Amino acid sequence: GENLVAVALTVNGRSVRLMADPRWTLLDTLRERLSLTGTKKGCDRGQCGACTVHVEGRRVLSCLTLTASVDGEHVTTVEGLSDGEHLHPMQRAFIAHDGFQCGYCTSGQIMSAVALVGEGHADTDDDIKEYMSGNICRCGAYPFIRDAIKDAREEMR
Ligand code: FES
Ligand code: FES
Repeated sequence: GENLVAVALTVNGRSVRLMADPRWTLLDTLRERLSLTGTKKGCDRGQCGACTVHVEGRRVLSCLTLTASVDGEHVTTVEGLSDGEHLHPMQRAFIAHDGFQCGYCTSGQIMSAVALVGEGHADTDDDIKEYMSGNICRCGAYPFIRDAIKDAREEMR
């Protein structure tokens, strides 16, 4: 049906206005309407973490978030983490520590990892394991991801 709702949000610092189907997820809006394809669709049902983005600085699974529910809010995707040419310390650390293989999970891992440091949940290996447990890596890059997080957290402080 043509039951669209007006949504205004800020994505990576840019104001965006669109008419959204109330059933659309933030994930589909980012990828298909805004061409921000760095955010990946893995399971599309809240079980893999590939779609993780930040809303008002908190991590959310964009496949479980309705676009209309973030009206008026600030959304950050992996495309918004770097500062122009300068990669975010977490992005640099993932590269330095080989924190990815196929790369499909990587933007979600990085968005979660950045939030984790902000939450104060990146201090110990056990904390990192627990609080990153929603981000699945089929390639098994977990030890390298943890090394990257430990490296970046120092620089982020
Ligand atoms: Fe959202 Fe898997 S695509 S959790
Ligand atoms: Fe392939 Fe994580 S790098 S799924």
